[in-house]
Amino acid sequence: MKYSTLFVLLASLAYSGCGGGSSDDTTNTAAVDTPTADTPTLDEQLPSTPEAETEPADDPEPKFLISDISSGYYDKLYDAVGNELTLDKDQVLSMQDALVDDVLPILTEEQQNTFNEAYKAFEDLDEKNEVDKVLFSNSMIDAMLSSADKATQDKYFPSFRLFRKQTHHLFPILRLGDYSWLFEFLNQRSWLTHIILIPPETTDDYTATCRENDVPIPPDWGSDLWVHQGTATTDFLASRRTEVYAYEDPSVAGACMALPRWSLDTSGSEYIQFLGIICQSQTTGKACFWDNISKETGGRITGGEDLTFKISDIQNGDNLAENCTNCHRGKNVFLIHPDTPIDISDDYDIDPNVRYQPISAQGWTNPPAFAELGDGACASCHEIGGISFDYCNTVLRSAANQTMPSAALPAGWEGDETFYGTHIQAMIDAGCRE
Ligand code: HEC
Ligand code: HEC
Repeated sequence: MKYSTLFVLLASLAYSGCGGGSSDDTTNTAAVDTPTADTPTLDEQLPSTPEAETEPADDPEPKFLISDISSGYYDKLYDAVGNELTLDKDQVLSMQDALVDDVLPILTEEQQNTFNEAYKAFEDLDEKNEVDKVLFSNSMIDAMLSSADKATQDKYFPSFRLFRKQTHHLFPILRLGDYSWLFEFLNQRSWLTHIILIPPETTDDYTATCRENDVPIPPDWGSDLWVHQGTATTDFLASRRTEVYAYEDPSVAGACMALPRWSLDTSGSEYIQFLGIICQSQTTGKACFWDNISKETGGRITGGEDLTFKISDIQNGDNLAENCTNCHRGKNVFLIHPDTPIDISDDYDIDPNVRYQPISAQGWTNPPAFAELGDGACASCHEIGGISFDYCNTVLRSAANQTMPSAALPAGWEGDETFYGTHIQAMIDAGCRE
């Protein structure tokens, strides 16, 4: 958290510093894949200075040049005729040097002197490991290309950007704070815009905890693994339009549900405003929660049919301000209106073997039932969850008025002498007031 703040701070500093058009990758930094676990600590040779004529003996000849890279997708690189290019970790430094050897002579003498000075100053710095060297060299190349003529930029920039992205997978940064020296170094030379660091993946402990508890992990939003169940016909929160989606992991018993709630924007177009996601384990009864609120900005991530976002980018049961368990309580986490599209019980495992409990570092709970199964009229078919303001006023009351015990003959939220009325009066007395 602190490091990403530092990063944003420094990155914005970099942008205001000068208007270099080549540091656009800093905006892509959120889309990094999980870095591999290894920590490169090799302290090999310092990178050869641009003037160095020969490669160090242990630096293998690159199998291909950065400029051979013509496209890249799904973390793979391809040449102009579509052959996959595999970037070896131990070739990255020599590939960078080869590019420098090509580009540096094209620059003016003054520029060449400046870059040579920078390389020498880098060599004079205290011990630098391989990650440092790769990052430094990427920043240098970005600076060099930015000072080169248009033709050189057009020739090298696209390949270099693909290459650079790949180097961040091979040499993940573990802590941004370790690179203040690089910010400092570049800042002194007014090259701050050329810094290219990808901040460490914020370790998503929540997803890991859910997985450990046998809770299925939802696919990212936009994935076609989410199966559309239909448009909700009953909606206690009276959204304009509510779509129901479900997901089942073939190897983890349980189910995930996602509920995009559509609204109208100021220009009268429909958009997805809320998109809560809940997954529940069949075996452990543990449930996990996510909502379409950006971890980074705290804002809603909204959009239309083409909306996409990563589960790792949105807030969850560990950090959501809204407590989902104020309403999502009972034997199972889901609030199901029977025989409507939201009732996925025929096709999915939504009734857990163990009474549900939320996973949350903020102390969310599924409090004990107000009425256990069999303990009162409304509990003839299922337990009535512990009383809370939201549960009473949004869920129980609406259920009694609209859907329970059946949509055809709802009991009505009235404490009276009738079969259900007596039980409802007990709920009202227990704290379910208006
Ligand atoms: C004020 C009560 C309330 C709160 C708080 C609440 N929900 Fe819900 N939620 C409902 C109701 C009621 C439904 C059933 C659909 C309907 O009637 O709108 C529902 C349905 C859902 C569904 C569809 C699956 C199901 O259980 O039917 C998901 C997913 C969901 N909510 C996610 C969340 C998340 C995530 C949070 C917390 C950020 C949350 N909800 C907080 C009331 C609430
Ligand atoms: C004839 C059986 C039956 C009776 C009686 C009944 N319900 Fe339900 N109720 C269901 C079924 C089936 C569901 C679907 C969801 C499930 O099984 O979890 C449901 C769901 C609910 C839900 C949605 C949230 C949830 O827990 O899944 C609420 C709230 C609810 N009932 C309240 C009541 C209240 C209040 C009464 C008494 C007025 C009542 N029910 C009586 C069968 C019944």
